[in-house]
Amino acid sequence: MRYAKSHFLLLALAGLLWSCQSIASQPSNPIPVETAALVRVTAVPSQPTAANTPILPPTQPPPFTPTPIPTVTANPTSLLTATPTHTPTATPIGPCEQRLPGDGLFTLVTLTYGLSRDYAPDDLVPLADYLPVGVTLGYPTEVRQMIVEPLVQMLNAMRDEGLQPRIISGYRSYSAQAIAWNKWVTEEPERAAIISAPPGFSEHQLGTTLDFGSPELAEIVGREEIQFHTYFYKTSEGIWLLNNAHRYGFSLSYPREAFELTGFYYEPWHYRYVGVELATQLHESGSFLTAYLLATQPLPCLP
Ligand code: DAL
Ligand code: ZN
Repeated sequence: MRYAKSHFLLLALAGLLWSCQSIASQPSNPIPVETAALVRVTAVPSQPTAANTPILPPTQPPPFTPTPIPTVTANPTSLLTATPTHTPTATPIGPCEQRLPGDGLFTLVTLTYGLSRDYAPDDLVPLADYLPVGVTLGYPTEVRQMIVEPLVQMLNAMRDEGLQPRIISGYRSYSAQAIAWNKWVTEEPERAAIISAPPGFSEHQLGTTLDFGSPELAEIVGREEIQFHTYFYKTSEGIWLLNNAHRYGFSLSYPREAFELTGFYYEPWHYRYVGVELATQLHESGSFLTAYLLATQPLPCLP
């Protein structure tokens, strides 16, 4: 079921709660006990078409400066073949009104290079159609259809290992991001700029970005209502994602070392789907998408 425009206010208000922040406020509903199994998605994701042709980067990106490779705990072979394969091609720089993200996988989104206020993916689906309420927490979270299969595979793998991943936020419209941004500017003007993106400058507008949660976080932080906190990196779910998310195509957008380049503080819960090939390359080189795109791709237009 698609959400009608009449539900915009609900989504906008949800976005207010879901801003990526270090410390979030009380959710509108309690975190339920997780009991149901995830839906096993078997459909093959749609292949790129002329309308959603990937725009960046080249198939064989230049190598990164070698850095220590984090531990990988499982053999990724079967998973690699189960995730969608994209063959990105370079796209010339154009006017911003033509800067539609294509399939959005490699669209640079930074505090300098934003998205049109009119941009919204055309294949958004509600995660509630695929995941139990124990994972979605009952929120009307949407993501692009193209990332559902790898996401469900990843969540199933986590649950098979006894973990209890939560999804706190997915797609956020320009308007929802504006509400979130204004909230943080009002409540925490000193920190707003490093914990939340202004509208048009959030990867969440792409529909391929997710914020994960963990039931362990509240105890670690010592606050029952907590949803986002840097200590997510200490949770079982955060550790697993750091070591394994790339095998399903998800990449950590704002690692600790990204602050200087991105302007955003460490967000161990914020992952963006970029496909297995690039996610694995970024993981093994200790890099992140923004650094990679800025170093290897033509700069896009300025909004
Ligand atoms: N918290 C991240 C930067 C966002 O608002 O997209
Ligand atoms: Zn986020």
